[in-house]
This record gives sequence, structure tokens and C-alpha cells, in this order.
Amino acid sequence: MIDSKEYNRRRRQLMRMAGRDAIVIVPAAAERLRNNDAHYPYRQDSDFHYLTGFGEPDAVLALVPGRAQGEVILFCRERDRTREQWDGHRAGQEGAVADFGMDDAFPIEDIDDILPGLIEGRARVYYHFGRDTDFDLVLMGWVNRVRSNVRQGAKPPHEFVALSHLLHDLRLYKSRAEIRLMHKSAQIAAEAHVRAMRAARPGMNEHEVEAELLHTFRKHGAVPSYEPIVGGGANGCVLHYRANNATLRDGDLLLIDAGAEFSCYASDITRTFPVNGRYTPEQRALYDIVLAAQLAAIDEVRPGRSFDAYHQAAVRSLTAGLIKLGLLSGSLRSNLDEHRYRRFYMHKTGHWLGLDVHDVGDYRVDGEYRELEPGMVVTVEPGLYISPDMKGVPARFRGIGIRIEDDVVVTRGDPSVLSSGVPKDADEIEALMASA
Ligand code: GLY
Ligand code: MN
Ligand code: MN
Repeated sequence: MIDSKEYNRRRRQLMRMAGRDAIVIVPAAAERLRNNDAHYPYRQDSDFHYLTGFGEPDAVLALVPGRAQGEVILFCRERDRTREQWDGHRAGQEGAVADFGMDDAFPIEDIDDILPGLIEGRARVYYHFGRDTDFDLVLMGWVNRVRSNVRQGAKPPHEFVALSHLLHDLRLYKSRAEIRLMHKSAQIAAEAHVRAMRAARPGMNEHEVEAELLHTFRKHGAVPSYEPIVGGGANGCVLHYRANNATLRDGDLLLIDAGAEFSCYASDITRTFPVNGRYTPEQRALYDIVLAAQLAAIDEVRPGRSFDAYHQAAVRSLTAGLIKLGLLSGSLRSNLDEHRYRRFYMHKTGHWLGLDVHDVGDYRVDGEYRELEPGMVVTVEPGLYISPDMKGVPARFRGIGIRIEDDVVVTRGDPSVLSSGVPKDADEIEALMASA
């Protein structure tokens, strides 16, 4: 768990970066209706969670650096016996101060009366403009209230700055406590993948395998960090396959891309294994190319290497493997220069991972890919996708989709793989499935 001191440190750091003449405003995620009066499961906004650990909707955090009566202010729901009987516990203003380390807390109903006063005199407003257009209007209403008092001496802000610049750079570097949670999230997901490997059989439906994943997630108090992809055979070639409703066939591979979210931290793991427990020679040949590329890429996840280096390593390794197998012809150099691997491999080798699956943080700084630094976490996920109708490829390779994805921390030493709890070596996968 992240303790309240760490949340406090994050807020102080953000306030230092914003400056003493700024105000930072971060709303909680809104509740969203799924249909009629049934809601989607509530998920706190990642930025709001990062700064508060506060899980309720109808809340707004205001950071007011240097304010004598308190710099960290939370507007949140009041305690209410009746509402709490229907919807569950609320922290209330007392809880916000006592349990979440706020300097002060007010009922959310009072925000229109209080927030304009906090904005007044601040030169700069840091906020996520455009993310929630309803809240944008509310915020501009508060600013206009200050502006309307200019003749009485009020000083309205004159700079509006995207909060992501500062906050998302903080979120990119994970603390020890965050890495611990991400490890736990990856362990849960790895256990789910192992369970799915043991359960899969020809004749089962993809959604039955999905149920095995969900069983493990919920057993550990986690939820999926995105909709799981469970794609048998050629469905594994569909990068964002979501139907998960086809029957698994003897002789096909099964690609599962599924991650857990534990305490709001995501994992993101992909494994590809034979439905009947044994890879065919063609599947195995392609699988081993992807695995070699993944291992080569992971070895590039080191401080000082560019974010792009591990993608380039994967592409080099995949291309060399495809030439050796006869699916590409010509020299390694010409194939790389002409990006000829792209018919088989059309996505990037990974992304930042954290509170969001595709986590925040710039990939480039001043136009150049940024260097990896300790504490950053990335996925490493090369693949090969040979669709059933791909021309110029022997028929026996068609309809095979393979991806292998792990979650990797940049450390001062060797790359640390958080998701090593599920095998990826083909022999190890076959052994695990044979023992099921
Ligand atoms: N599961 C989403 C991704 O791999 O990026
Ligand atoms: Mn994935
Ligand atoms: Mn991914």
C-alpha cells in the first residue's frame, strides 16, 4: 500500500513545480451510467488517485501553494446516514483530514462559494483542460467570477497551463511502493495466465478461458486492467480482438493478452500457447523468433538507452528470424531499411505502464526519444501476425498470431521482469500444460 506520507510527498513536489503563485485543480472521476440507473464500476481518475488515494466520486482537490490556512484542500461528499445505507461508507470532511492527510476539507456542495476565492490572486491555473468538458465550464465559471470583481481589486489568473506537463512527468518515475504494487498486480495476472494455460482444451470457448482469468483476478481483489483479449487461431492476428466467443480448435494457438489492476496499478501480460498443449513445427518456429526478439528487447531496457532502442532490438531480431525462416528474403540491412517486417509486425514494442495500462509520460523530449531511467516501467511485447489471407507466405504459416508481453522495470542493474510468474519458454509451457 502507498502510505499517506507518500501522497503528501507527491503533492508537495507538484506544488514546488507549480510555484507559489499557482493553483492546481484536479477533479475526481465522474460516475458513469451504463444503462438506465446502472453504473459502470467506479474507477477513480488516475491523477486524482496519485495525489490523494481518495476513492470516492464527487470530489475535487485544490493545491494552493503557500496558503497560510492550508495548502491542500479537498472538496468531498458529506457524511450522510441515509445515503451511506444505500451506497456505502463516505470519508466525509473529517475523514479527508484525518485519514488522507488533507490540510482542510469542505462539502462538495460549497465548492462554488469557496473555489473562486482560492483562485483569486493566483497567476496560474494548472488543470487538465479538455478532459471533462462539463468541468471545464464549471472552472471557467469560477474564473469569470473572479474576473467580474476586477474593479473591486480582485486579481484573476492570467495563465492556464496543462497539468499533464508536470504531473505526468512525476508519474513516470515509480517509487518503491509503486513497484511493489505493480509487482503484485503482475503476479496476480501471471497466476491467471497459468490457470488459463492449465484449463484450455480443444472445444472450449474463448469466453470460458476468459472466465478462468477473471476468477484469479477477483480471488485476489483485482479487476482486469483492460478488456482481456482471448483469441484462438487467426483471432490472435486481430490486435484488439475483443469478441472472445469462438470455439478453440485442436491444432490452433491461443493468444491471451490480459492484465490485472490491483490497487489501481496495472499489469499487462501476453502469452501465446497451443490449445492442445503442443506447438506444431511452424508455430514453434515463429514462436521462437518472437521469444528471441522479446529477450533481445528486454536486454535493452536499461538506464541511458533510448526508449526506442528496445523496439529497434526487437525489430532487428524479428527480421533476422524471418529471413532465416524464408518469410523474408534479401539482406538484414535492406529488410530493416525498407521496414519489410511491418507486414508481420505492425505495432510498437511497448509503452509506459503504471496506474494506466498505457501510462502517462512523454516518449520524446525535444523531438528525441527520451532515455530510460531507473524507476520507469515499460511493457516489452513483440509479435508476429500472419493473417489467414496473407499473400506470398506458405499456407502452413497462415492464421498464426503470436505475441509475448512482459512488464519490465528499469533498474540501475539488470532489467527487472515483474511478470516472470508465467512461463514463456515453449518447452516450459508445454511441460506446464502436460501436467495440467
Ligand atoms: N493490452 C494492451 C497492450 O498490450 O498494449
Ligand atoms: Mn497487452
Ligand atoms: Mn501492452
